[in-house]
Amino acid sequence: MGQSNLMHDVIHDVPKAGKLGRGFGHRGGLTEGIEAALQREPRRGRITTSSQQSHTAGSSFRRSWLAWRSVSWLRIRFGPLALAVLLAAPLGPSWADDEVTSAVAAVASEVAQKQKLRALFPDPTASVQTTPSVIPQLQIDGDSSGMIATFQPNGSTPTAGNAFFQPLGSNGRTCFTCHQPQDGWSLSAQHAQARFNSDPNDPLFRRVDGATCPSADVSTLAAQRAAYSLLTHKGLIRIGLPMQSTMEFQIHDVSDPYGCDNNPVTGLTGSKSGILSFYRRVLPSTNLGFLSTIMWDGREPDLFQQSVDATLGHAQSASAPTPSERQQIVGFEGCTTALSTTANPLDLPFPCGTPKGTGIFTAQIHDDSAGGLTDAGTNGGPVALATRITKFFIGTNDPLGLNPTGAAFNPVIFDLYDAWASATNAGSQDGGEGDQSGQGQNGEGDGSGQNGTVAPRSAIARGQHVFNSVLINITGVGGLNDVLNRPSISGFCGTCHDTPDVGNHSVKAPLNIGIANAGPNSPPALDISGLPVFTLWCTSGSMAGTMFQVTDVGRAMISGKCADIGKVKGPVLRGLAARAPYFHNGSAATLSDVVEFYNQRFGIGLTAQQKADLVAFLNAL
Ligand code: HEC
Ligand code: HEC
Repeated sequence: MGQSNLMHDVIHDVPKAGKLGRGFGHRGGLTEGIEAALQREPRRGRITTSSQQSHTAGSSFRRSWLAWRSVSWLRIRFGPLALAVLLAAPLGPSWADDEVTSAVAAVASEVAQKQKLRALFPDPTASVQTTPSVIPQLQIDGDSSGMIATFQPNGSTPTAGNAFFQPLGSNGRTCFTCHQPQDGWSLSAQHAQARFNSDPNDPLFRRVDGATCPSADVSTLAAQRAAYSLLTHKGLIRIGLPMQSTMEFQIHDVSDPYGCDNNPVTGLTGSKSGILSFYRRVLPSTNLGFLSTIMWDGREPDLFQQSVDATLGHAQSASAPTPSERQQIVGFEGCTTALSTTANPLDLPFPCGTPKGTGIFTAQIHDDSAGGLTDAGTNGGPVALATRITKFFIGTNDPLGLNPTGAAFNPVIFDLYDAWASATNAGSQDGGEGDQSGQGQNGEGDGSGQNGTVAPRSAIARGQHVFNSVLINITGVGGLNDVLNRPSISGFCGTCHDTPDVGNHSVKAPLNIGIANAGPNSPPALDISGLPVFTLWCTSGSMAGTMFQVTDVGRAMISGKCADIGKVKGPVLRGLAARAPYFHNGSAATLSDVVEFYNQRFGIGLTAQQKADLVAFLNAL
């Protein structure tokens, strides 16, 4: 029974082809205002019980809202009236379909808002984006613990002929502005800072979403430094998403150090209307063939639409990229399996217009201490990763009954460094891990040669073993414990990071491990300073009456459901060393912070040695 609930949760997220068609129709109206976008999507059913509750909640909300911005109250008083109209509407299609249209409405408003900001908050002229002339078949760059590499099975890509690298908009930005190979096709905070230091007019620093708020002062260098502080310190980009009248929750209070949410031009216009700003890490635009969902909150239906919205939004283009430009972008990035469940927007021979297995693959290839990550029979690096793509399918290795083949879950997610589990690192003869310390001594005599790598290699292999085998008592995780109605699940890192050798979640099931929490429930060992805090009040649905304090509303901004507050996807775990900080809000400065969070959050009881080994392993992914 629990499983069928989860099944439902997952399946209702899958866009239906027919609905998608409708969705594209809506997108024709991208330039329409936010209000219009929201009013097009009135929904019913779910609201049924909310009318009275929103009255009760309303008085409490009123106090806090009035203290904050008295002028808004006029707007809010129309709330019950609008609800009455909605209640009269007939019951529509299932909630499943609602989520698809909600995602469409959310993204349309997100983009429309950024378009509006273009005229309101002009930028100083951008410098020209520095771009290499070619991305070679194997591109290798230094990173924090060694070298990161990107492999293109189809050969090199000249950047002049590919829209991923071209400024398609009005602000000098390209996809390459935020997705770069030395950062694992994400953006490290370290490199954002370095780019600011060398040129504060680098196209990365645009007010629309690079600044803490588009209205931020950028008139002096000091002002720019403050405006781009979240970007340079944590690598965070502002994502503004609309509140929708159909949501089960309303905004009770906002504590926003940047005043962005409190200003009706850039933020909220009522308890359930206007824009909320979240600050999120750039997801890698690589290894996309392994994705089960696109964006932290799964709001994009496919990579083609994603490329359109990124161009209209981040690059503030007046028009969408042409079909052939979209094809160039997706052809370079690679196919994503997530797309194959939706309609094929361009009627191409393959769901993505590119055969599965083309595109780019990124992984750590060299470790400063352990040396080559493909040495002595190991399988690190992007070339081996590229070969894994043919084995991937949605639900692969799922632990909770969502694997379509019915195969049992195997918690051994990674086998890349099995060969180093033997003490000499020479191969697999020695097998056991027991004698590694003795052999480690042998290596000490020669720090520079092959032997100097024995201890670090053993550490990586031990860290892999920790990832694959340490027992975690999973409690309080939204999307697992609640959906399965099991307060405690005995699991592993791989229960959520279940895709073999990749580590992302193989099903589209948003999870809340507590990273977005604020206030008394703030995540242990993490730094959420500098992020706005939202207090949400659930006014309808099964969680009516519940309050949440979060720095990001997560999937609930799309689904409207209180149960989805704070939920995001489990990301790919390859190429980590190149893309600090971690988690969707950049709250873990290092991989040590990530491990410390898990250790405390789930009371795992890792030893200092296990923590160090796990970090060494994560750095080698
Ligand atoms: C201003 C920085 C910026 C620019 C420019 C940018 N992106 Fe992104 N990209 C992001 C951020 C931030 C996210 C995650 C946002 C979220 O999930 O809400 C993201 C997410 C993505 C993802 C999702 C990956 C995943 O795992 O789900 C893809 C694919 C992507 N971007 C491709 C592109 C393409 C293609 C372009 C150019 C058309 C582009 N991006 C331009 C910042 C940027
Ligand atoms: C209950 C599910 C769950 C378990 C168990 C789990 N994770 Fe995660 N992991 C997630 C989710 C969800 C995220 C994204 C969270 C966010 O950003 O808010 C994540 C993110 C991460 C990230 C950050 C990736 C990035 O790009 O920022 C790392 C690293 C990571 N997990 C490693 C681990 C390790 C190591 C373990 C075992 C000690 C583990 N996880 C156990 C669900 C889980």
